[in-house]
Amino acid sequence: MTDLAIVTLAAGKGTRMKSKLPKVLHKVAGKSMAQHAVDTAAELSPIHNILVIGYKADLVRKGVTGDLDFIEQEKQLGTGHAVMQTKDKLADFSGTILVLYGDTPLLTVETLNNLVTKHESEGAAASILTAEVEDPSGYGRIVREEGQVKEIVEDKDTSPQQSKINEINTGICCFDSELLWQSIKEIDTDNAQGEYYLTDVVGILANAGELVTGVKAKSARETIGVNTRSHLAQAENILRRRTCEQQMAKGVTIIDPENTYIDSTVEIGRDTIVYPGVFLEGDTEIGSEVVIGPQSRIIDSIIKDRVEIENSTIKGSIVEEDCVIGPYAYLRPGAKIGKKAKVGDFVEIKKSTVGNGSKVPHLSYIGDTEIGEGCNIGAGTITANYDGENKYKTIISDNCFIGSNSTLVAPINIAVGGITGAGAVVTKNVKENETVIGVPAKPKDEN
Ligand code: UD1
Ligand code: CA
Repeated sequence: MTDLAIVTLAAGKGTRMKSKLPKVLHKVAGKSMAQHAVDTAAELSPIHNILVIGYKADLVRKGVTGDLDFIEQEKQLGTGHAVMQTKDKLADFSGTILVLYGDTPLLTVETLNNLVTKHESEGAAASILTAEVEDPSGYGRIVREEGQVKEIVEDKDTSPQQSKINEINTGICCFDSELLWQSIKEIDTDNAQGEYYLTDVVGILANAGELVTGVKAKSARETIGVNTRSHLAQAENILRRRTCEQQMAKGVTIIDPENTYIDSTVEIGRDTIVYPGVFLEGDTEIGSEVVIGPQSRIIDSIIKDRVEIENSTIKGSIVEEDCVIGPYAYLRPGAKIGKKAKVGDFVEIKKSTVGNGSKVPHLSYIGDTEIGEGCNIGAGTITANYDGENKYKTIISDNCFIGSNSTLVAPINIAVGGITGAGAVVTKNVKENETVIGVPAKPKDEN
C-alpha cells in the first residue's frame, strides 16, 4: 500500500451555527465533531494525522486528543488555503493525502478505506467521495463529462443548470501528494465567496488530463456536513441510531431506539434491557442482564450485572451486582454501592459507600459516609455532613439499624450493631450494640 497522510480541516468558525464555540467542538453523540474525524482518521493508521486549526485554535487544541499534529491556519481564506498550510509539514511525504472535513462526523472507516483503495488501484490523481442526495443545496456539485469528474462547482457559483445536479461533493477527497502540491498553486479567489477553494484543484487536474475519480458513498446519510444546528440534530439522530444498532447487534435489548441516547463510548453487556428515555453517557460500563428503566441518566459510571435501575440519575459512581436503584435515586460522584444493596426512592448519595446487602430505601441524604454491610437506614435519615464551613465523615458499621428520620451529626461513628430510635438527633458516637434515642440522642437506659 501507498503511504497515507490525513489532513482534517477544522479552522473555520462555523458562522451558520451562531455559536461562541467553534463549530468543530460541537458534540454529536457525546463527542466533538473534530474528535470524531480524527478518531476515524487514526483507524486508518496514517503516517501523518494532521488537524488544521484556526478559529479559537487554543480551544480546539485543548478539546481534541490523540496522536496528531496541529497546524494553524491564521486566516481562514478557504479550504484550499487550509490544505496549503500543511505543505511544509508534508514536504518529505510522498503518497496519498486524504482530506477530511471537521464538520463531517458520521463517516465510517470502511467508506474511507474504500475511497483510498479505489484511488490507489486506479492510479488516480484525485478521488472524490460523492453522494446522491435529494436536496443538494449548500453542497458543491459534481460536474461529470462522459462519466469522468470534470470539476466541482460550489453551491454559490452554480449556473441554474448546475444547481440541479444532485451528485454532491462530500468534502472527502484524496490526492496524489505530488500532483496536489503542483495544482494547488494554481487556485485563486475568483469566486462568489472570494476564498481559495480546495475543490478547484479537481478542475485543474481534470483540465490537465489527469484522472479524477468520483466514488459514490453507499449511504448519503453518512456524509452529511454539519453547518447549522438543524444539521447537528440530524447528525445526532443518525449517529445515535447507529450506536443503538451496534448495541442491539451485540445482544442488548433497546425497547425504543428512537428515544434512547447512548454515547459511542459506552459498553453494555448481553441481555441488558434499556427502556425509553434513557441516557448513557461518557465513560460508562453496564454489565449483563441489567434493567435500565425509563428516564434514567447514567454518566461516567460502572453498573455491574443484574442491577435494576428505574428513573434515576447516576454520575461517577459504581454499583455492584444485583442492586436495586430507584425509582428517583440520585447517585453523585464517589457513590459506591455494594452487592445486593438497595437505594430507593428520593435518596441522594454522595461520596459514600453502601456495604453489601445494606438498604437505604426512602427519602435520605447520605454524604461523606461509610455504611457497612447488612444495615438498614430508615426513611428520612440525614447525614448532617456540613457545618457551613467544613464537611465531616459519618461511619455506620455493619448491621446497624438507623431509625426513621434520624439525623446523624458528623463527624460521628456508629459502631457494629448500633441502633438509633425514630427521630433521634445523634451528636455523640454510638457504641457496639448500643441503642440511642431522643434529641439529642442518649443511650436508652439514661432516658
Ligand atoms: C465544503 C466544500 C463543498 C462540499 C461541502 C461538504 C469547499 C470549497 N467546499 O463546503 O464542495 O460540498 O464542504 O460538506 O471545500 N475550513 C478551514 N479553513 C478555511 C475554511 C474552512 O479549515 O479557511 C474547514 C471548516 O472548519 C470545515 C471545513 O473546512 O470543517 C469545510 O468548510 P465549510 O465552510 O463548512 O465548507 P462548505 O461551505 O460546507
Ligand atoms: Ca460544511
